[in-house]
Parts: sequence; structure tokens; C-alpha cells
Amino acid sequence: MKALVKQKAEPGLWLIDVPEPAVGPGDVLIKVLRTGICGTDLHIRNWDGWAQQTISTPLVVGHEFVGEVVDTGRDVTDIKPGDLVSGEGHLVCGKCRNCLAGRRHLCRATVGLGVGRDGAFAEYVSLPASNVWVHRVQVDLDVAAIFDPFGNAVHTALSFPLVNEDVLITGAGPIGLMAAAVAKHAGARHVVVTDVSEERLDLARKLGAGLALDVSRTTIADGQRELGLREGFDVGLEMSGNPAALREMIANMTHGGKIAMLGLPAEEFPVDWARIVTSMITLKGIYGREMYETWYAMTVLLEGGLDLAPVITGRYSHRDHEAAFADAAGGKGGKVILDWTA
Ligand SMILES: NC(=O)c1ccc[n+]([C@@H]2O[C@H](COP(=O)([O-])OP(=O)(O)OC[C@H]3O[C@@H](n4cnc5c(N)ncnc54)[C@H](O)[C@@H]3O)[C@@H](O)[C@H]2O)c1
Ligand SMILES: [Zn+2]
Ligand SMILES: [Zn+2]
Repeated sequence: MKALVKQKAEPGLWLIDVPEPAVGPGDVLIKVLRTGICGTDLHIRNWDGWAQQTISTPLVVGHEFVGEVVDTGRDVTDIKPGDLVSGEGHLVCGKCRNCLAGRRHLCRATVGLGVGRDGAFAEYVSLPASNVWVHRVQVDLDVAAIFDPFGNAVHTALSFPLVNEDVLITGAGPIGLMAAAVAKHAGARHVVVTDVSEERLDLARKLGAGLALDVSRTTIADGQRELGLREGFDVGLEMSGNPAALREMIANMTHGGKIAMLGLPAEEFPVDWARIVTSMITLKGIYGREMYETWYAMTVLLEGGLDLAPVITGRYSHRDHEAAFADAAGGKGGKVILDWTA
């Protein structure tokens, strides 16, 4: 089968022929229809410091996908050929304290699909049945392909109650954009999104941000004044990984404000801890999705009319992966989709 592979320990990805994956007794074999390109895939392609430390070659990359089940192992009873599925990209150990307690998203030994083992940028992917999400409700294929990052957005956005609250989202990448849509849908009063890309701020306005601020030209405090906020934001969703964004967020929170932090900073950096303490701010780190509470929430949000269509801005054949990756790396659009059937 064709797969997009990190073949050599150097920049690049190669579309080559590899053997079809094995299907163990508890596994599901999936014919991949569409996939989403994630920042992680860009790191692996660029072969940056993180990738060099993390990735063993050769590796089939990719973790965001939708596909159709074509075969199941003998122990799989509740998933059948023909089912439309996406996959949870974190494979948990099943043995640690949190796994045994049913808190699988807190597993201390997760393996990443397309990171620690072969992934989904291929004609077929094999996954344990416990990592497979069956789409039982009608869903657009492009949206189904990005359930993994949509889940990051939902997990973060629904970490704290949002009804009638003023919400600040720093970073209008694909995940920040989806979080803006979720926050608005979930009943937030003001949803303010910041970025330094005008194109992405325009997308944020389309997805439900009442105010989208270019922080290279204005400040979040100016945004607060424009909206007439007097005491700061109630909830902050950090979606950029940028130190300046978190610092400004902390400075603009109300007393008792709550911050959910998904953005992954590249290195340590200082923040105003005295302000966090004296304003009694809660900071919560978010990794991945809750299995499978977040997946239920995503399905129900879409059933309830949440529209993610504007977040998908690039569609390519898998054969045009070079152009697709250049689009995703441009940092101006939303999500980029690869079609594995064309
Ligand atoms: N914790 C997790 O499980 C998890 C999962 C996926 C992604 N991530 C991280 O979440 C973040 C968002 O992911 P993405 O794919 O949307 O990333 P992205 O890189 O596409 O988006 C980040 C955005 O932040 C903007 N930005 C840069 N400096 C800023 C500033 N000072 N203020 C406001 N915005 C600023 C950038 O212009 C960019 O549009 C990334 O840091 C990513 O590494 C974490
Ligand atoms: Zn991803
Ligand atoms: Zn575990």
C-alpha cells in the first residue's frame, strides 16, 4: 500500500510502498479516506530538535483520519466492516493507576499514533478496537477527519463552565478557531480571539469570535475596553504555545479566573506567579482528549448544529502532499485535508 513515510533521519516525507499493517485479535483494519495535517506532522517533516529526539525511522506518520472498517480481529465484536470511523491517537497502557481507574486520558505511558508507532497517512491503518470511534451520526467526511484536533478544542473549551462568561482565546490556529466556535455554541457571552495573522483572525470572526485582535498592533486590554469589560476575562483558553500570549492572558483575567492551557511552549519561560496567586487564578494543563467523554461531546455538538466548515481551508490529493504540507506550514489558513481516495 502507499504511505507517507519518514524514511530517513533528515527533513522530508516520502510517499512509498509499504506492507499493509497486521491485524491482531483485538484490532480493526481501516481503509483511510481522508486525513488532517497537524503541527506534529510538520515537526516530523521538518526534522526539528523535538522530532530528532522522539522519532525512530522508518515511520508512517499521521494521526488525524476518517476511514471505513474493512476487517476486524477475532475478539472484536462491536465494530464491523463498513463502519465509518475515526481514531483516538493516544494508545494507552491499560496498566497504570489512571488506566485501571478508567481515567485513560491521564495514562502515564501513552504511545502516539504516527509518532511512537505507524500512523494513518496511508491507504490502511490498523488500530486496537478500544481506540476506534464509530460515527453513528451523519458527519461530513472532512470534519470526521479532524475529530482528533476538534477533540483538543472541545476538551479545552469545556474544561470550565462557559455560559454567559467572557472567554479569551489566545492563538487562532486550527484548534483555537474550533475552540472559538465551541465556546460561542456553548453559551459564552463575549468570545475574544487573538493572533498575529490577519487571515486567521478573519477565520475567527467567521467561526464565532465577537472580537478578533491582532496583538502585534493592539493589546488585549484595549479589547477589554472596546467591549466594556470592567474586571477581566472569566475563562482563558491558551492555544498558541507563545509565552507572550500566556503572560498577557494572566494579566487580563478576572480574580478567580480559570485558564485551560493546550498550547505547547517550546521551552520554559517566566510568568507573573504573584498575580496568579493573589488573583487566585486556576491554571489547568490539557493533553489530548478525554476517552471517550470528549468524543461524545464532539458528536453531540455537531448534532446540535455546530458548524466547523469554515475551519477547513485546504483540500489536496495525498499525491500532492508537498503542496498540502506547504499550505499547512504557511500559518495563514485553517485545517488542511489529504484525500487518500483521489
Ligand atoms: N496539549 C495537546 O494535547 C495539544 C494537542 C495539539 C496541539 N497542541 C498545541 O496547541 C497549540 C495550537 O495548535 P494549532 O495546531 O492550532 O497551532 P498553530 O501553530 O497552527 O496555531 C498557533 C497560533 O498562535 C498564533 N500566535 C503566535 N503568537 C501569538 C501571540 N503572542 N498571541 C496570540 N497568538 C499567537 C500563531 O500565529 C498561530 O496562528 C500549539 O501550541 C500546539 O503545539 C497541544
Ligand atoms: Zn493532531
Ligand atoms: Zn496507562
